[in-house]
Amino acid sequence: MRKKFFHQFIRDRKTVGSVTPSSQYLTSAMLAPVNWSSVQNVVEFGAGTGVITHNILSRLPVGARLSVYEINPEFIQELKTIDDPRLVLHERSAWDVAIMQPAYSVDVVISGLPLTHFSHVQTRDLMRAISQILRPNGMYVQFQYAPLRLNDVREAFPNTTMHIELRNIPPACVYVARNTSVSAGEDSPLMPKTLKLDAQ
Ligand SMILES: C[S@@+](CC[C@H](N)C(=O)[O-])C[C@H]1O[C@@H](n2cnc3c(N)ncnc32)[C@H](O)[C@@H]1O
Repeated sequence: MRKKFFHQFIRDRKTVGSVTPSSQYLTSAMLAPVNWSSVQNVVEFGAGTGVITHNILSRLPVGARLSVYEINPEFIQELKTIDDPRLVLHERSAWDVAIMQPAYSVDVVISGLPLTHFSHVQTRDLMRAISQILRPNGMYVQFQYAPLRLNDVREAFPNTTMHIELRNIPPACVYVARNTSVSAGEDSPLMPKTLKLDAQ
């Protein structure tokens, strides 16, 4: 798995963005902010060899769905070996997400996309797409190897927090954001009773 990852990094550094898959520590730091028992619809961007994907699936309730967006053909082949009916693999760019997912339908977005390799304009476009698909109060978790593009993320999600996970090669910054741009009370049709991400 590590060999395959490194090989893909050599072939396309900008898109792959890392020499090795995320460590178990970074994976746990990415998934810890989410109350997994109440999520129904999760999106993962840039799944790579599936390290985080497997961990999402191990936490995901029966009947929930994980939609993965990945563009690297080698990684797509690896992801296709995951035999889980909850997993829907989209062999397309994360930037297409607002075409594929209904508005305000997603509880959580988990992203390993190397944002620093994309322009500010591209990052802002992605943030717009994420805020379109996330439910009110839905969560967006992103890792980066440097605290860059944080301002672009905070432009869309002003309450974004950042912490550093040192037990990864290289150490990584974890951004945690919530979609507060659409206000909805608990009785709103946009806020299903199953969504209790606040209860942490
Ligand atoms: C830093 S790696 C993270 C891989 C994995 N999530 C992990 O934590 O080990 C970034 C991943 O983003 C994918 N990627 C890059 N651009 C993408 C895009 N536009 N849409 C979807 N995935 C993309 C790359 O192919 C690569 O798998």
